[in-house]
Amino acid sequence: NAVIGSVKTVLGWMPERWLPGGTPDPLIGRHGEVGRQASRLDGPQKVQGKARFAAEVAMEGMCYATLINSPITRGRIARLDTAAAEAAPGVVLVLTHRNMPRLEIVPVMSISNMGAVGNSALPILQDDQIRYNGQVIALVLAETQEQADHAATLVEIGYEQAPARTRFEEAKANARTPASILTEKNQVSVGDAPRELQQAPYSVDNLYRTPGHNHAAIELHAVTTAWDGDALTLHDATQAIAPTANALAKLFGVRREGVRVLSPFVGGGFGGKAFWDHQVVAIAAARIAARPVRLMLSREAVCRMIGGRTPTEQRVALAADAAGKFTAVVHTGFSVMPTYAVCPEQYSLGSRAAYRSKTYQFGQRHLDLDVVPNTYMRGPGESVGSFAMESAVDELAHQMGIDPIELRRRNEPETHPLSGTAFSQRGVLEAYRMGAERFGWDQRSAAPGTRREGEWLTGMGCATGSFPYVRMPAGAVRIHLTQGGQATVSCSAQDMGMGTSTVQSQHAADRLGLPLEAITFEMGDSDLPPAPMAGGSAQTVSIAAAIAAAADKLTGELLRMAGNASPVAGLRAGEVRLVGGELVSLEDPARRDSFHAILSRAGRETVTVTASASAPLEMLKFAMQSMSAIFCEARVSAVTGEVRVTRLLGSFDCGTILNPKTAASQFRGGMIMGLGMALTEETLFDERSGRIMNASLADYHIPAHLDVPDIEVIWTGIPDPRSPLGARGIGEVGITGVAAAIANAVFNATGKRVRDLPLTLDKLL
Ligand code: MOS
Repeated sequence: NAVIGSVKTVLGWMPERWLPGGTPDPLIGRHGEVGRQASRLDGPQKVQGKARFAAEVAMEGMCYATLINSPITRGRIARLDTAAAEAAPGVVLVLTHRNMPRLEIVPVMSISNMGAVGNSALPILQDDQIRYNGQVIALVLAETQEQADHAATLVEIGYEQAPARTRFEEAKANARTPASILTEKNQVSVGDAPRELQQAPYSVDNLYRTPGHNHAAIELHAVTTAWDGDALTLHDATQAIAPTANALAKLFGVRREGVRVLSPFVGGGFGGKAFWDHQVVAIAAARIAARPVRLMLSREAVCRMIGGRTPTEQRVALAADAAGKFTAVVHTGFSVMPTYAVCPEQYSLGSRAAYRSKTYQFGQRHLDLDVVPNTYMRGPGESVGSFAMESAVDELAHQMGIDPIELRRRNEPETHPLSGTAFSQRGVLEAYRMGAERFGWDQRSAAPGTRREGEWLTGMGCATGSFPYVRMPAGAVRIHLTQGGQATVSCSAQDMGMGTSTVQSQHAADRLGLPLEAITFEMGDSDLPPAPMAGGSAQTVSIAAAIAAAADKLTGELLRMAGNASPVAGLRAGEVRLVGGELVSLEDPARRDSFHAILSRAGRETVTVTASASAPLEMLKFAMQSMSAIFCEARVSAVTGEVRVTRLLGSFDCGTILNPKTAASQFRGGMIMGLGMALTEETLFDERSGRIMNASLADYHIPAHLDVPDIEVIWTGIPDPRSPLGARGIGEVGITGVAAAIANAVFNATGKRVRDLPLTLDKLL
């Protein structure tokens, strides 16, 4: 999501005639490996414990690190005594701002050059200043983890505290209004929305609040790292391999070629595993100590020093005429984003593409608080934005006595509501039709609070989810083909558990016309051709485009090698397709030549090509987003106010589904995260101290098995004619719309409208 703007900025100068006419990918609609329900190729390694994660790699002579995080929110370190810690058994090094090497400032997230992924523009251990509660102030290195943990308790630190900005309400007085949100214009006003709101026969105008959320990936952030002269090896849990290698080379002033980041397996990322201070201090410690270092954050440290989702306060106002057509759509609000953070939590962006209306008003304001830099978290913007907007649509439908799906249907736009740009493909109404039928929406009682069995009130709700299509412009793929018909496809892709290597192997098999068993997909290593980070739900199509480009180049290479005697002589890359280990003329399938024959005649064992993806021009020419219709049945105890989600169904419209098994897992996982957002997840931030009070999984509640009902997932499967393979992103759309669907079901069950998450029982009594 963060990159749409950058892509538009980079490509914005291109004249219209250079934009693609939209020649669809020839693989769209072909049924081979793509679309097949393949199991994860790395599944057996994972269930057998053979997959090595970053904190499981052992290095010769390795020592162990622990961090000290600031317990104060703002001020400076006035006194620092490391003598006792340094004298403790097994201690190798105590690293503080005094002996930390002087570094460049971390370059912050920017995808256009893949050169940087930092989540914060703050210096790392460069001075005595404390800028937020949880900031890293020291690293202790010892022969064992226990010795490091013990010695950390012996470091004596005295603080001089300074007043901190920690209160959301107070910060509103000085809210900033950035000109752009991810380079989309921030403040947008079309027509006179306030007047329409006043005059319309039907309107709603309310504030919605969502709390902060902690990143809670099951794998803790971890690195195992070593220097060899100026060469650095980093085993890391990251969703940004090549950008991390680029940033580290710059930060430590060493050659990029000498920096190797390895991350073949990641136990969940969700936007939280890009580039944070722990990587930098561990690498610095390894350099000073001249020893390999392992650092795995504690769960508490993840909560304190890895930014999470920011709290928001959003206003959504809608007005409709007597026919149920919107005359005003307003979505504005406040969120926390310190000047040194990079994620604007773009909650109003999804609303701008959602509904047709006579007038519009959008805008976001940022509050500067002294907090850990907030960052991306699955569906940044849209997940909390859709809670506000889709609750409001439900409120208006109730006021008008119209079915909420019907109200959405009446306001479905033909083209992008603000820009007028054509949608590449938009099947959200079809997703609603399929979902409603499957879910049994016709069983819903329109009158709230009328279905009761014993103490349980039951209700149904629905909501729309959406997440923009992104294809990242940078990146390259190498294909190495052997005479025996084996292909190795390589790039520094990352897999946080979603099945990257499985799906790209399936894709490469079809693209190269080889069986799945003949494909090896190599990834997770910055020495491979650079892939963009896994983020913005963009990795799959970004890499797919690079594989397509490499396959074209390979085809050209084979045709050149085939020579004049070949049945395919004279044909160009676009005139053949790769199938069954052969080049086959599109026009005359009798003209064909096998990879094996071509390579043998040329006296070659192998052929290797590397190519970069085409520019993602489809993003400029078309309005593109993945969408969903989420359905929920919830029960609320009339005695305790407890909410139980009994049924959840997601009906998705995301283009071609490349692998039904891995896709269903992605959708389901996103929906479970949405369930957590709706019912339990909340970073408890003490505004008096500026400290997070529930920095553990015992106190920060993610859904457990008993909270999660059977989740049904279906999709339209309508291919997007403008994207590689006809696919759009599926990583983030799953969480969007879910909290609203649940809140709407709770309203239908009880008649109580809760506009501030999570939906805890105290709000329902
Ligand atoms: Mo995502 S929040 O871009 O990992």
